[in-house]
Amino acid sequence: METLLQKIEGYRREIEGYVTNGAEAAEQFRIAYLGTKGLVKSLMGEMKQVPADRKKEFGQILNEFKQFAEAKYNSLKTVAGKTPSLAAAAIDLSLPGDLIPVGSRHPISMMRHRIVSIFQRLGFSVAEGPEIEDDWHNFTALNLPEYHPARDMQDTFYVSTDPAWLLRTHTSNIQIREMEKGVLPLRIVCPGRVYRNETISARSHCFFHQVEGLYIDEDVSFADLKQTLYFFVKEMYGNDVKVRFRPSYFPFTEPSAEMDISCQLCGGKGCNVCKNTGWLEILGCGMVHPNVLTNCNIDPEKYTGFAFGMGVERPALLKYGINDIRLFSENDVRFLRQFSGVV
Ligand code: PHE
Repeated sequence: METLLQKIEGYRREIEGYVTNGAEAAEQFRIAYLGTKGLVKSLMGEMKQVPADRKKEFGQILNEFKQFAEAKYNSLKTVAGKTPSLAAAAIDLSLPGDLIPVGSRHPISMMRHRIVSIFQRLGFSVAEGPEIEDDWHNFTALNLPEYHPARDMQDTFYVSTDPAWLLRTHTSNIQIREMEKGVLPLRIVCPGRVYRNETISARSHCFFHQVEGLYIDEDVSFADLKQTLYFFVKEMYGNDVKVRFRPSYFPFTEPSAEMDISCQLCGGKGCNVCKNTGWLEILGCGMVHPNVLTNCNIDPEKYTGFAFGMGVERPALLKYGINDIRLFSENDVRFLRQFSGVV
């Protein structure tokens, strides 16, 4: 008797989980459970095994089970019968399809592209180089011999010391590598990631991105440098932006300058982004030092050139209204998703 009751319980669960997909399946259910050779009939045949004092109880349970199976059959039948019209009502062919999630370009890539494409329109081509560099290409050839105090301007990550391999501190290494190839005139922009041993904060990071530029030919002058950078600033920040050059120092350029633009946020009135000066420093530049040309076997009596270098993170922070540089490298999709569709 107990095993019979367990069996019925098992069938009940089986029926509960039964899902149909059409009239044919409903009919199969009827044959299996309610037909003349079906399960309910065969359970009734078991009645004779049940002890006399429990026949009433078993009969009741079996009856309930039969009703349960019949109810299930009725519901399967109605659903099956209604399926075509229900389906027709449920499918609206005019609805738009499921959206396929699209990725986005990283804001740093977008900004690098903006910068590079402006110079490409002026005839500069893109050159790239290694991030792990030797001392010559990162320092010595750039007029920074060993023990030169200006090496301290850029705290360097060394991969090894003897021989010295390091993570490049600027993309100027590419300029040396291109000049060494000896094909002149040379007009390149060098985008890439650079590394400096700096404390990570909202404003600075131990790696960031630069775009540097180099133009070497006969008779290149500081006027060419200024005109090129004026064009860049107008394309990048609009016609109204004001520009100023301040004298500066870099070992690899002489004379050297830093270029400021009027603050994009306060329009030059002074705010906390420009530290109340009204100006934002955006790049370093200058005429390539004769020693650098000589180091790359270029005759400084015949050729002159200019170089400039800028960071990518800062303009990206300003353009996209981001207040923490660390967001760029954390790969948080909630941050990155906001740039899909932005160019
Ligand atoms: N290499 C310099 C830096 O990383 C930038 C620069 C490039 C300055 C070219 C002048 C000329 O700070």
